Amino acid sequence: MKKAALITGSYGGLGTRFANIHASNGGDLVLVGRNQKKLDQQAAELKHQYQIEVHTIAVDLSQSDAAQNIFDTCQENHWEIEYLINNAGFGGQGEFIKRTMEQDMSMIAVNIETPTRLCKLFLPEMVKRGHGKVLNVSSTAAVMPGPLQAVYYATKAYMTSFTEALWRELKDTGVTATVLMPGAMSTGFASAGSLGDTALFAKAVDPTPVAQAGYNGMMNGKMAVTAGLVGSQKIFLPMSPLMPKKMLMNSVYNMQLPGSAKK
Ligand SMILES: NC(=O)c1ccc[n+]([C@@H]2O[C@H](COP(=O)([O-])OP(=O)(O)OC[C@H]3O[C@@H](n4cnc5c(N)ncnc54)[C@H](OP(=O)(O)O)[C@@H]3O)[C@@H](O)[C@H]2O)c1
Repeated sequence: MKKAALITGSYGGLGTRFANIHASNGGDLVLVGRNQKKLDQQAAELKHQYQIEVHTIAVDLSQSDAAQNIFDTCQENHWEIEYLINNAGFGGQGEFIKRTMEQDMSMIAVNIETPTRLCKLFLPEMVKRGHGKVLNVSSTAAVMPGPLQAVYYATKAYMTSFTEALWRELKDTGVTATVLMPGAMSTGFASAGSLGDTALFAKAVDPTPVAQAGYNGMMNGKMAVTAGLVGSQKIFLPMSPLMPKKMLMNSVYNMQLPGSAKK
């Protein structure tokens, strides 16, 4: 494979964009998701349109052996991964005490545990070779706590902190780690997390330029990229560290209340 990118959540809103961008640059792909049919369809379309090599790995990323299975499959098939894009993730509206153990633990597994394991497995190979790049998808949710999505915001705070630290540790190795922090985008994310009628998603943006900004940032070895802020987020986000914490928590809570889009 040449210049191969492994993308988790490849048939989702942002994942599809990463796959298309990389394919249009002539790079090969390893597509990872849990639905084999959707992976096969995406792979067939990309091969047809771009004449590239595309492979698929069907795996549930909430399982603790998922990362090892992905890594082993790449090793066995001699698929050398030049770009690791940890994109899969999900949120979910609701009070912490009302959400189930399973909902929140699988979120931690998909948003934190599996991407961390994938970095642990793929990065040493990249460093040994002296080249390779990681793009971890976080969120603007990383920069503040998120009442009514308490666990989701915390998973993204982890992802940003983890990736920025990696960026420094990898200095002078030829390998880079970049974190992408998107604002609210119109993908499958809002409906998967029952957030479609919240004020936060009332003006969600197109994911295509967000994916391009993240991809460019990864290619340039940037530490962090923030992209896709809607009008109000452009003001709210830089102001948020200056706001009294209790006032900030009330604002985030109100933005994520069911039906708040109509208010
Ligand atoms: N949309 C936003 O507003 C927004 C904002 C900031 C950050 N983000 C982040 O952007 C990333 C991409 O999300 P998106 O907006 O493109 O949402 P999306 O359209 O819902 O895509 C999410 C992808 O992750 C996959 N996924 C979820 N759970 C999985 C599991 N257990 N095993 C395997 N695959 C799984 C989904 O597959 P299935 O369809 O099979 O579930 C889907 O392909 C996520 O990390 C998200 O947190 C999104």
